[in-house]
Amino acid sequence: MPLVNMADMLNHAYRHNYAVGSFHLVSLDFLSGIVEAAENRHAPVILSLAESHFEYYDFELLMAACVVAAKRATVPVAIHLDHGSSLETAIRAIRMGCNGVMVDTSAEPLGDNLHMTRQVVAMGRACGVAVEGELGYVPGLEGDDALRYPGELTYTTASQAKTYVERTGVDSLAVSVGTVHGHTKGAPRLDYGRLGKINEAVGIPLVIHGGSGLSDDQCRKLIANGVAKINYFTAMAEAAGSDIRRHADAGEMNSATLTRGVRESVRVEVERCIRVWGSGGRAAEVLSQCRLWREVEHVLLFNADKRLDQTEAATLVSQGMKSLAAIPGVRSVAYGEAMQADARYQQCWLIRFANDALVPGYLEHPEYSNYADAMFRLAATERVSIDYKIG
Ligand code: 13P
Repeated sequence: MPLVNMADMLNHAYRHNYAVGSFHLVSLDFLSGIVEAAENRHAPVILSLAESHFEYYDFELLMAACVVAAKRATVPVAIHLDHGSSLETAIRAIRMGCNGVMVDTSAEPLGDNLHMTRQVVAMGRACGVAVEGELGYVPGLEGDDALRYPGELTYTTASQAKTYVERTGVDSLAVSVGTVHGHTKGAPRLDYGRLGKINEAVGIPLVIHGGSGLSDDQCRKLIANGVAKINYFTAMAEAAGSDIRRHADAGEMNSATLTRGVRESVRVEVERCIRVWGSGGRAAEVLSQCRLWREVEHVLLFNADKRLDQTEAATLVSQGMKSLAAIPGVRSVAYGEAMQADARYQQCWLIRFANDALVPGYLEHPEYSNYADAMFRLAATERVSIDYKIG
């Protein structure tokens, strides 16, 4: 079950001078190609889903596939929400199975960026999820690149980065040092001196957005200056697109045959990145040195007071469903009734936590305590609860 804690994974890369690839996926073919490459190269890998791509797929369905792929992989995997637009998207992503999130508020004035990032970090900490912050502006939008969305590149400064990291507590920091998303006119010119100063100032894993189009040498210099995660999309998408065009030019009309080479094109591109970024062959050490990401089943057995009428009994359940599911880090809530009439407890809640980090804080969360104080404890006088680590 090699879903691993993403902060641990990035810290390992940071300490050992390599970068983990964070590969954006937009379909099952991308997912299969990325995981296959990581397996072939024995590399830790990050499956990344960007909110700007949600128009291409059903987020919930693709996330379910990512979770299955991660659980059956033999290499360490983390699942990341990239460029989320709000705290709510981050909460939703964690509910679906992400164990790393980024809410991109870098376009806001520094004070607002700090404030919003702090909220995301507080929520992420309570769920055990790694949070990436961003300071500065990297032009372009994933897949719709800097030629179409140029904007003015804003460089990250070391002093702002220091303040930002100290005040927010982010686990990793995306920096702007000359890369762009997708294409740009001419080769990107990177400011390694600036990057080195940022690295010295913050001492946490740095992240590069806009991995496509960088030379091998540029990647190595970025990694030597503290970069431990590189985001990558356009080059994979274009390799897959070229393959589709080749089939179309050969007269293929059927979508299944047109796209049959996508998985292989993605695999080849990802294997190349893994080789250059130095993450190949690291799977075993990451698995032995990083915390595994394990969900927890919070089992709550109870007997409702027999004096409740039908409406009160139904409200006890419907209100519980609503309140418990609203707690960030709760992945699912199920209510059940015993099959055996003589069972010691006739009813249960099965509440799936994203991670054991939720255990200490869950009972204090206002959604839980309001429901428990106003309704549940009064109605369910007989009860017992146990937390089980799953997997
Ligand atoms: P590229 O599309 O340039 O590889 O950038 C991807 C990215 O940074 C997503 O956040």
